[in-house]
Amino acid sequence: PRSIWISRHGESMYNLSGQIGGDANLSERGQRYAQVLPDLVKQSAGDRPLTVWTSTLKRTAQTAHHLPYEKLSWKALDELDSGVCDGLTYADIEQQYPHDFKARDEDKYNYRYTGGESYRDVVIRLEPIIMELERSENILIVTHQAVLRCIYAYFMGSAQDKSPWMEVPLHCLIKLTPRAYKTEEERIYADV
Ligand code: F6P
Repeated sequence: PRSIWISRHGESMYNLSGQIGGDANLSERGQRYAQVLPDLVKQSAGDRPLTVWTSTLKRTAQTAHHLPYEKLSWKALDELDSGVCDGLTYADIEQQYPHDFKARDEDKYNYRYTGGESYRDVVIRLEPIIMELERSENILIVTHQAVLRCIYAYFMGSAQDKSPWMEVPLHCLIKLTPRAYKTEEERIYADV
């Protein structure tokens, strides 16, 4: 059967400082994840020829760097655009935009950052990606937390408004195998 592999990028400098958005490089730990990722993929996919999809941001390209497959980068896979809050920490947002902080907490799926996006917006911009995925074989997607949550919720058949709370940790390769009634899931964690 057909499978889809998904992974977040390795830890970035912004993940370390707790800043959101941006276009940071991988941290040393993130680079170690990039180095072991080819082995994790081999463990899970064997010798199947994969195609790797990344976003246009550096941290996903750096994570995919050592993978010996064809690569394609998609703007539609870029992280949820946090608009005026890009580059801030959650503590900064709470301090500088207290109303926004509260509004997001109350309705994370629909909350749209000023000058940016909501989860709902991301689900809509992912439609062409999902369509392309549905007609493709053996795709490995290396992208970002919010985007992966939406893709994951889609394949797991969860309500999209649950996507903001899906658990997609760093340094974990997830294999999804859609079956007639549910999608099977396997997670492999990297020790980095
Ligand atoms: O912190 C990493 C990150 O990918 C941010 O760039 C992004 O804004 C955030 O996670 C999305 O997670 P949440 O929707 O829980 O804030």
